[in-house]
Amino acid sequence: MANPPTIRKGAFRRYLVNFDPSSLPTDRCDVLVVGGGAAGLRSAIEAANLGANVIVLAKNEVSDCNTYLAQGGIATVMDDKDSVESHIRDTLSAGIGICDESAVSFVVTEARSRIEELISWGAPFDRTNSHLALTKEGGHSVSRILHIGGDSTGRGLHETLQRVAKSNPNIRIVERAFAIDLVSSASMRIVGVLVLDEEEKPRLILAGATILATGGAGAIYRETTNPASSTGDGVMMAFRAGAIVRDIEFVQFHPTTLYIAGASRLLVSEAVRGEGAYLVNAGGERFMHRYHDAAELAPRDVVSLAIVKELARTKATSVFLDLRHKDPDEMLARFPGIASAVSRFGLDLARDLIPVRPSAHYVIGGVKVNQSARTNLRGLLACGECSSTGLHGANRLGSNSLIEALVYGEVAGRNAVADSKHDDAREPPQGLPLGAQKVAGFDYEDMRRSLQTLLWRQVGITRNARDLGEAKKSLHFWSRYLLEGGFERRGELSLQNQLQFAILLANAADMRQESRGVHTRMDFEKRDDENWLGHFEISVTGGYVFHKLDDTNEGTR
Ligand code: SIN
Repeated sequence: MANPPTIRKGAFRRYLVNFDPSSLPTDRCDVLVVGGGAAGLRSAIEAANLGANVIVLAKNEVSDCNTYLAQGGIATVMDDKDSVESHIRDTLSAGIGICDESAVSFVVTEARSRIEELISWGAPFDRTNSHLALTKEGGHSVSRILHIGGDSTGRGLHETLQRVAKSNPNIRIVERAFAIDLVSSASMRIVGVLVLDEEEKPRLILAGATILATGGAGAIYRETTNPASSTGDGVMMAFRAGAIVRDIEFVQFHPTTLYIAGASRLLVSEAVRGEGAYLVNAGGERFMHRYHDAAELAPRDVVSLAIVKELARTKATSVFLDLRHKDPDEMLARFPGIASAVSRFGLDLARDLIPVRPSAHYVIGGVKVNQSARTNLRGLLACGECSSTGLHGANRLGSNSLIEALVYGEVAGRNAVADSKHDDAREPPQGLPLGAQKVAGFDYEDMRRSLQTLLWRQVGITRNARDLGEAKKSLHFWSRYLLEGGFERRGELSLQNQLQFAILLANAADMRQESRGVHTRMDFEKRDDENWLGHFEISVTGGYVFHKLDDTNEGTR
């Protein structure tokens, strides 16, 4: 590997804003959870049940998260025809050699308890003749995906968790609170968070332990299934505080996002293919069998890349999902949310071809955690999409993320309570003088669109050295004025996070000179285990370090 780029300190200074801890309004709690998706709420419930006093911060309304939008379901072994071993095998195979096998085994084994607990809390999983209804998704060798309301699994799950959390007197949910930075003590323990409250006023929330559950970063791309709030803020605030970020070059693109001018990029669940939908090109031809034996149910990276190739070959702007060979009433009942969404554009899900193409969906990399959900920083734990547990390797298997959020959420909540009792948990916070010049006349919406477009075009589904080099030049130029300047409003502060995220992503994508899972280099089309079986770990102090695994790691395909 050529010399890795350096982490430019000016671009990653410790705090985004100046603050004086002694003059700010301050709240205190035992456990602070930043983020209100499945991972955040599950961790809060666990900590509160163990007697901790918990604050949950949500950037907007608590339901504004990727969990709420999740359609397809949750993968868990619940059936005699399935086995833990089979789910482990499928996950390792999708991850192409770089899953952490102990994390895979841990999540798959713990999954059933988390689901049984949700059922006991009233989660309305779909059933057929009183048995849990299970469907298939790409890369799963058997039907093991549970769902709620047909295609509104995330909403059903989130509403259940919200109900349980809101009925717990130990939990306070604070909405519209934008976390700017994790705050450290003099000994570098994380002791809380600096936030902008609903009125854009800064305040401190100090905590015995802090759990980061801030979700993904899909909205840094122009085309995405994610809400606009998924901007990678949590990962970057942890990075600035000294956390190790791993696997950031692996961004998963969902193959089937609705592609109609004027429509938001609505996800059309992989479960639609799980129930038998075909993918056809502009000429009406099924094409997936030319790319993989499992055809439409190949792993996601394979299907997304096949669609990109098919679009280039046919010079079309979308391919189509085709359910016309299925029973229309059954399909409309199975996918009521998607059917209603496409009907707004005059399309009938069961009788029309539905135009789709890939878009950014899930960030596989994140803040590195161990099996206790602890990061390398004392006082900081992480779970859910913002974390990197090692479960997904180079390509996440569909419906493995909600279950990961629940399993690691429970662990994070439990361990945060233990950590909040350590002697150093009450160390006072330290501010730092920033000395940055306030930037005047800055149009952050324009900059955000430019960043999203650049990432989509040059650091997207397919990558090459020329595009990545140009992207890095633009990012470097933007960072000179955007990252070294002083800002105060949440949109601009979040944009600083997005640019920092993009810099780490583009550099890691440029350095990994092979194709593996969701990382596709057109100039290095093959997987290269000799040089690249392993992970980039990045930190402010250590820079970019590549850790090789030995090549007995499972998961070949
Ligand atoms: C889907 O329903 O296709 C999305 C599920 C997931 O991303 O795991």
